[in-house]
Parts: sequence; C-alpha cells; structure tokens
Amino acid sequence: MLCLSGFSVVRVVVKEDGDVILPCSPWPERDLENQLFDWKKDSRQEVFFYDAGAHYNNGRMGQDRQFIQRVSHFPEQLKTGNASIMIRAAEVADSGVYTCVFPHLQPNGPTCRIDLIVGEC
Ligand SMILES: *[C@@H]1O[C@H](CO)[C@@H](O)[C@H](O)[C@H]1NC(C)=O
Repeated sequence: MLCLSGFSVVRVVVKEDGDVILPCSPWPERDLENQLFDWKKDSRQEVFFYDAGAHYNNGRMGQDRQFIQRVSHFPEQLKTGNASIMIRAAEVADSGVYTCVFPHLQPNGPTCRIDLIVGEC
C-alpha cells in the first residue's frame, strides 16, 4: 500500500520519455489544500513544492532546473489527501530516490519515499 502508517518505500519503473506518477497519500487522510509538502530527489534537488496553493507552476521560485515544466500535481485530488505528482518525459537522469515531506503534518521525516528507475527502451 502507498504511504500508509507513516512511511513506506515504493519502487516505480518507467521507460525513458514516459510519464510517471509518484504516489503519496499521507495517512490518516486529510484535506491537503492548505497544507505544505515538498518533494525532493536524492535529498537535494527540489522537484515540487506546494504551500497552500502556491507552487512551482504558478510562480514560486526554487525548482531544480532538471524538473522545470515537467512536474505537476493533481489539484482536484488534494481535498482527498492525494499529494501525488507526475513527471513527464522521464529521463534516465531522473532515476533516484524521491521523498515527500509534510513538515507540519508529519514532522519526523519523510512521509513517502519512491525509488524511481527510468530505463532506456
Ligand atoms: C492520486 O492521484 C493520482 C492521479 O490522479 C492517481 O493516479 C492515484 O491513484 C491517486 N491516489 C489515490 C490513493 O487515490
């Protein structure tokens, strides 16, 4: 299951150039529209940051260049606790460990961890 009881590791495999969803739904389920969450790759690259409606696709600065214009969230699903993101046109260099933290909801570490493997076709 995805991210139940605090923390779990999910492995996701996608072909190069494919679109891929990195799942994250913190438990217990709650409305995330006014929450803050932050997706990072390998603990250092900023992938997607959301803070009560402000994010990288509507003016917030700081996203790692590798991910600009390739990452989106699912705004209509935030209400039901879904903080998943999609990476479009996956590159081999996107392979790595993705974590999503909720510093206010779950301050003691990442809530979700996805090991992403992007394969060449
Ligand atoms: C979260 O949203 C994504 C995109 O719509 C969907 O693929 C995924 O199944 C959803 N996760 C849950 C737990 O509903």
